[in-house]
Amino acid sequence: MERTLVIAKPDALQRKLIGEIISRFERKGLKLIGLKMMAISDALIAEHYAHHADKPFFENLKKFMQSAPVVVMALEGLDAVESVRLVAGQTKSRVADMGTIRGDLAMSIQINLVHTSDSLENAKTEIARFFKEGELFAYQPSNLKLIYSPDELT
Ligand code: CMP
Repeated sequence: MERTLVIAKPDALQRKLIGEIISRFERKGLKLIGLKMMAISDALIAEHYAHHADKPFFENLKKFMQSAPVVVMALEGLDAVESVRLVAGQTKSRVADMGTIRGDLAMSIQINLVHTSDSLENAKTEIARFFKEGELFAYQPSNLKLIYSPDELT
């Protein structure tokens, strides 16, 4: 099974949408294996958004991501990286598909409620960036056979 990272951004916390966001991933069938609230340090911002450091929006992005705590979660499932991105919707929220988190609940490109890992490789790096070993949990969901067929689970 794949694992991927979601950051519910400061707008999600301020707008009291944390429960709604977690619920959408849970209802989809993704398994929550890590969850915590934290402030993102300068060092974490520099590392996580290194590929955006020279973009004109970087300073505003940094200010926004440090404007309130975030809630980070690690999710597990078959094709979890792609599945989570489908649930989130495209970056430009105001034109994201209805039915997605951004499409239903946001308007901005930057203030877009969630960050999601964009590849399996990045998901591994990002989970390791935000979670220590003991903060991720292995358990057997009791409803797994209602989420996937036996073929998919082998
Ligand atoms: P995220 O998935 O966290 O990855 C990079 C973030 O930069 C993105 O979500 C947005 O919050 C922000 N971002 C990306 N493109 C733009 C843009 N053109 N203008 C402003 N912010 C952006």
